[in-house]
Amino acid sequence: MQETERASAREAACRTLLRQVQSIQAETRTGFPGQRVLDTLLEFVERHRALLPDEDFAPPRAHSRMHPLAEGLDTPYGLYLNVTRPGKHAEPHCHGVWSVSAGLAGRELNQFWKVTEQTSNTSAKVGKTHAITLERGTGMLMQATDVHSTTTQGEGETRLLHLFERPFEQFPRVVFYHPAWGTRRALPQGTGRTLRGG
Ligand SMILES: [Fe+2]
Repeated sequence: MQETERASAREAACRTLLRQVQSIQAETRTGFPGQRVLDTLLEFVERHRALLPDEDFAPPRAHSRMHPLAEGLDTPYGLYLNVTRPGKHAEPHCHGVWSVSAGLAGRELNQFWKVTEQTSNTSAKVGKTHAITLERGTGMLMQATDVHSTTTQGEGETRLLHLFERPFEQFPRVVFYHPAWGTRRALPQGTGRTLRGG
């Protein structure tokens, strides 16, 4: 398949996926459709793997790069293909939106944390709860209030798909925690796009 042909097939598949997610969400009473959306994303990966070849998604210049697959369009969501280099680590943070993720290649350790004490806007304690490893064929869902840290493991790049409740541009304030220092830092609104990398 030619690159341009593949790009339009990919866009059509992504639009279909986001419409499916929207109809699942419409049928769900809570704001978090969870497992059904994750299953839909995993099916998408299995079915459309050929539309997501490495050559179409360049590695990051620094540590991490989010390639937008579909932002907004006629649905409220953001869908990204994330490429990270080995050793990349992100301190515990909370996105403030729900998300589902699926592994394409490589391995990313997701450590989940619980806020055990918050004494001010700038100080909080966090403790580890559980961990999930994302790799090919596996998935992960996060609620809007979940806190996770990420580490890219192994020798090669990690490639993951992330479907967020909203595109990066519309993220609320992303909150970072530093476990050793007991600090909490809310990024200014709209800086969710800085998570994109480059
Ligand atoms: Fe994150």
